[in-house]
Amino acid sequence: MNILDEIHKFDDSKDVTDAWTPPSSWYIEKEFMNLEYEKIFKAEWMFADFVHHLKKDGDYTTGKTANRPYVIVRDQGVIKAYYNVCSHHGTCVAKGSGNTDKLVCPYHGWVYNLEGRLRKIPKAGSIQEIHSKGLNLKEIPLQVVGPFIFLWLGNGNPKEFSKDLLEHFNRNHYSNLNFQKRVTYEINCNWKVFVDNYLDGGYHVPHMHPGLTTQLNLESYYTEIYQNWSLQKCLADKREAVEAEVQGRVEGEAEYTWMYPNFMVNRYGDWMDTNIAVPLSPNKTLIVFDYFHTSRPYDIEASLKASDKVQLEDMEICDMVQEGLNSGVYVQGVYAPQFEKPMYEFHKLLKASFLR
Ligand code: FES
Ligand SMILES: [Fe+2]
Repeated sequence: MNILDEIHKFDDSKDVTDAWTPPSSWYIEKEFMNLEYEKIFKAEWMFADFVHHLKKDGDYTTGKTANRPYVIVRDQGVIKAYYNVCSHHGTCVAKGSGNTDKLVCPYHGWVYNLEGRLRKIPKAGSIQEIHSKGLNLKEIPLQVVGPFIFLWLGNGNPKEFSKDLLEHFNRNHYSNLNFQKRVTYEINCNWKVFVDNYLDGGYHVPHMHPGLTTQLNLESYYTEIYQNWSLQKCLADKREAVEAEVQGRVEGEAEYTWMYPNFMVNRYGDWMDTNIAVPLSPNKTLIVFDYFHTSRPYDIEASLKASDKVQLEDMEICDMVQEGLNSGVYVQGVYAPQFEKPMYEFHKLLKASFLR
């Protein structure tokens, strides 16, 4: 496979009505995933965690994006992030989440304070000399927007966070949002299959999610596209006859925000849920859902169950898409022009990143 040829098979100069989708190689080849790590995941602001998980000084969380493990801590009221990599032999110094006043490497016990400074080296000879080598944890540029924490995991200087997206996030209300639950799913498809499904402008909703469709007024569905994000909105249907199993999930307006490359924020009335699609391999993706509500709803389990039903419907179809992509029978597809413009824009961004 010549990767450059494969990139150029996707012609982004066409109108959506005449355009072909990217070839299946983008979704199945390891080389594309390596390229994505370098050109996208280390070249964009990546969503990492929530302020909700760092309420008290000493709270920390850990994670990994594009093979780069990080630890986020709250130190004297300030949220900071470091590469979770010990300067001695590279061990991850923190695991999971919790509260601590220092980060102690589990291998030989080197101690870092929450400012990332190496404070103690057990049984070391000349500490002075070791210190001179700059052995503190490496800090990661970080941006807090509303409840969201974004990291810059690239090597160069961070680029400016999109101004209109910043305004959009800041316009939303997050006060009183309480974290309810994290749900993760591992799916057998490329991470972009999941994002494509999210960005089809509601096209699949009536066909695939009959339960959800009873709650939405799909006639009102519309999309706004910005430089590196898009917004899909839909009014809730006021009809009384809503299936009992999906009640309580959609009130007022549903708003779906997608931020390039893999972060999605969904608002429905008092609910907010976020999704990230973390690539594990070309055809394996970890999907992380975090649910928030402005109060603790009485029927939280019913609502989560309703959401789970929709997610499982989506994931099953994503797996089936991947099977077709893997088959060698499908090379390039087309867009449903009235709906799938946000998906086309996503593919254009991918191509621009690959060629950067
Ligand atoms: S690798 Fe961390 S103390 Fe040795
Ligand atoms: Fe869906």
